[in-house]
Amino acid sequence: MISIRSEREIELLRTAGHIVYETHQYLKPFLKEGITTKEIDDLAAAFIKKCGATPSCKGYEGYPANICISINDEVVHGIAGRRKLKNGDIVTLDICACYKGYHGDSAWSYPIGNVSSDAKYILEHTEKALYEGLKMAKAGNHIGDISNAVEEYANKYHLGVVKELTGHGVGNHLHEEPNVPNYGKKGTGPLLKEGMVIAIEPMLTLGEPDIYMEDDNWTIKTDDGSLSGHFEHTVVIRNDGCEILTGE
Ligand code: MF3
Ligand code: CO
Repeated sequence: MISIRSEREIELLRTAGHIVYETHQYLKPFLKEGITTKEIDDLAAAFIKKCGATPSCKGYEGYPANICISINDEVVHGIAGRRKLKNGDIVTLDICACYKGYHGDSAWSYPIGNVSSDAKYILEHTEKALYEGLKMAKAGNHIGDISNAVEEYANKYHLGVVKELTGHGVGNHLHEEPNVPNYGKKGTGPLLKEGMVIAIEPMLTLGEPDIYMEDDNWTIKTDDGSLSGHFEHTVVIRNDGCEILTGE
């Protein structure tokens, strides 16, 4: 079942989403060569707590860190540790916060220092793929319209679409129905209705889309070692489009 949220619930989801957005803004200036991923994770946890929320990832199915920090060929779920960011890296912060029982979820990939043209390319086009998906997020459309828009955009720019990982509904749980794949056919899948809340999150690769799980049982990387980008917003479906809950 896909929940339709009341305006009261949407207000709480808006607060949760805003906390996630503010956490991204807070962390951005710290994303420099030399900082460890553990330091970033600690800063994120302290900021989220100061906002009156909790980091949703912590303890989710046993996940050990507060946010997900994935570098270069890591697609998702990188675990913070002693590793330092380096000039030329791209780093994805996937931040989830829970406020009064309602979640917000947004991932963003950032360049560290001077990055290659390949890195710029994957960042630019994965973000644009997200916006192509967002354009289709409105009542009366189907999930497949979002999926298809992301896939078509990725194909046009010769980027790989990771198939095993999808966007999802967001509400009292971080992951709810429906799945929001980044590939699919127009007009298929669940019908979007006003008040549904979903996270749209293209995960694209510069090379092949195939992935594998690291020995830590969390970190997911590209098989071919190619760079990956990940941009995600949580949105509420409206009759005339969508309202971004994790934006400005
Ligand atoms: N935004 C991530 C996702 O949708 C949240 C992962 S929480 C974790 O997959 F615990 F699984 F890392
Ligand atoms: Co998500």
